[in-house]
Amino acid sequence: VTDLQVRRIEFDFGGDDVPFEWNTSNPVFSVELNFISVMAVAFEKFIVAAVREALPKITDPEAKAEANAFLQQEAVHAGAHRKHLAALTRRYPGFQRTIDEAVGLYDELTRTASLEYRLAYIADLEATFTPIFKLWLDNEERLFRPGDDRVASVFLWHFVEEVEHRSSALIVYNAITDRVYYRTRILPSVVLHLRQVLRAIGNGFNEHIPVQDRTVDGRDFYRPSFNIRNNIRKRLPFLSRSTQPPVPAAYAGVPRIEIWRSFGRILASQTPHHNPTHQPLPDFADKWFGKFDEGADIAHWYSTELASSSSRAS
Ligand SMILES: [Fe+2]
Ligand SMILES: [Fe+2]
Repeated sequence: VTDLQVRRIEFDFGGDDVPFEWNTSNPVFSVELNFISVMAVAFEKFIVAAVREALPKITDPEAKAEANAFLQQEAVHAGAHRKHLAALTRRYPGFQRTIDEAVGLYDELTRTASLEYRLAYIADLEATFTPIFKLWLDNEERLFRPGDDRVASVFLWHFVEEVEHRSSALIVYNAITDRVYYRTRILPSVVLHLRQVLRAIGNGFNEHIPVQDRTVDGRDFYRPSFNIRNNIRKRLPFLSRSTQPPVPAAYAGVPRIEIWRSFGRILASQTPHHNPTHQPLPDFADKWFGKFDEGADIAHWYSTELASSSSRAS
């Protein structure tokens, strides 16, 4: 029996004023999470197709229940992010082409790669999520709170559920194959494919979102050259020809040690015997699940939280 819960939440993306740069204090992180939203639609469609194909082949009832719940959570994630992206494409219709391109890159894998390969790809990428999202959720005050509450809320929900189902992809993979090393062996090709997806979406941001609405280059969030350029501008300003003030790095103010720890855990997650079950988890996840069980307005996380803390104070 699986502990996963499928939570259907109505997020608030009906308006025409959902900003692309949803956290103006952190343009790079804003772009990075918009990338995640596109990924949520493209990659999660890929997950749903692969897990559906795997289901009839899974004999162990516990693994089957896990696969089913995993599939449903991912389908609900993709649905919510589709609404987020629809709010963006109402403002920037051309951006739909970028979304289609990203979906196309994953559809092609669905058509051409073996089921084993696709499940290994999914297990590889899903294994990186707990260390990445722990870093983000541990620094939620800095990264999410200053942003648009509607957008921040969808990501907070998605990331706590990713932490919740951190073992699912590996359980499905192990139910289909006993090749322990294959997952690590295909990693270089997974990275190459991800680079293609990053480029397609980063270039799409530049092409379809006007620069005044995104502040930074749409590729800055994944290019090391951005941080190098930024550091030069900060430390040796006379060397820089740019007249613009440097924008903060995505993780400005996040303790260095936490970034390095997260990086170490991401590397460890790609080793053959990695088990996500025993990963350190963000405290925020428990807080979120508690609030959800109380029936809090999860779609407006920070406004709800502010309302409840001010009523406590009065
Ligand atoms: Fe997801
Ligand atoms: Fe996931």
